[in-house]
Amino acid sequence: MKTLIVGGAGYIGSHVVREFLDRGHGVTVFDNLSSGKRENLFPEAEFIHGDILDYTGLSRAASGRRGGFDAVVHLAAFKAVGESMVNPEKYSVNNINGTINILNAAVEGNIKNIIFSSSAAVFGQPEYLPIDEAHPTNPESYYGFTKLEIERFLGWYDKLKGIRFAALRYFNAAGYDVKGRIKGLESNPANLIPVIMEAACGMRETVQIFGNDYDTPDGTGVRDYVHVSDLAIAHAAALEYTSKNDKSITVNLGSESGISVLEIVEAARRITGKPIPARIVGRRAGDPAKLTAASKKAHELLHWTANNSDLDTLIKTSWDVYQKPRR
Ligand SMILES: NC(=O)c1ccc[n+]([C@@H]2O[C@H](COP(=O)([O-])OP(=O)(O)OC[C@H]3O[C@@H](n4cnc5c(N)ncnc54)[C@H](O)[C@@H]3O)[C@@H](O)[C@H]2O)c1
Repeated sequence: MKTLIVGGAGYIGSHVVREFLDRGHGVTVFDNLSSGKRENLFPEAEFIHGDILDYTGLSRAASGRRGGFDAVVHLAAFKAVGESMVNPEKYSVNNINGTINILNAAVEGNIKNIIFSSSAAVFGQPEYLPIDEAHPTNPESYYGFTKLEIERFLGWYDKLKGIRFAALRYFNAAGYDVKGRIKGLESNPANLIPVIMEAACGMRETVQIFGNDYDTPDGTGVRDYVHVSDLAIAHAAALEYTSKNDKSITVNLGSESGISVLEIVEAARRITGKPIPARIVGRRAGDPAKLTAASKKAHELLHWTANNSDLDTLIKTSWDVYQKPRR
């Protein structure tokens, strides 16, 4: 299939691109490189340096220089939860306006499938665990709100324009390509594992642990981490699903196992052999004690399981990338 991967130079996007190329799909990456990296691009994929907020350029790309696309994979967004609460305007424009442009460009380009990077942030505080797709959606952050609104736009474009979508609600994405082909480090990471890796290789002094008095076995927050190679496989399976069944889906993508902050820090110390100083600080507002996914729907519909999402693989594949000398 011919695919347009928007945000394909980013952390998750580059893994999706690699997976699609491995499966023989044609890939064009469209990215403004705001957080994406040139080193994440592959020579086998065409690259268009463009911005989803520039509708003219985007629609020209979506209409295809070489005869159009079967699908768009849409990963382009701002994703810092804290920033979205102080600068919602930025998130409204890039995430929501940007997506409306993508949807309209898909209509113009007659593209029938969209695979969208949604997030567990659509759920908000858990009412029960593990969180399945039927769990109420009540985002705690403006970022989560943008993802939920986009899911609703997708629903309307499905109904009115026949664009089939897969809204993939990732839990915590982590790790690097299990075959070691992707090396771009995330800039200013806010997620735990890259922060720990930065501490392990001396790029930052300590890791902050936000609260150790939660109702969890070791008192630190428990989250569901899903390996980015598993996420990439899920995108390919989702595209197969929407295109073959002519049907849209919304699915959770998680490993279904909870790992605590302390367990990750300890595993990272063991695997890297580095001391990784950590400091307990106060809880962050809105952080639940525990968040885990039910991914039964992804197992059933996509025949997908998070096979690479065990703690050691998450850390080892990250460390392989971070410990390499750079520049
Ligand atoms: N990382 C996670 O744990 C996680 C969890 C849930 C959902 N998501 C979602 O997955 C997607 C990818 O996340 P990521 O972690 O790879 O982040 P990332 O920042 O590495 O990737 C985003 C990519 O989109 C590009 N981009 C952003 N705005 C753009 C614009 N206006 N025009 C063109 N390109 C633009 C960036 O340059 C970058 O390459 C995002 O939509 C994010 O919200 C991520």
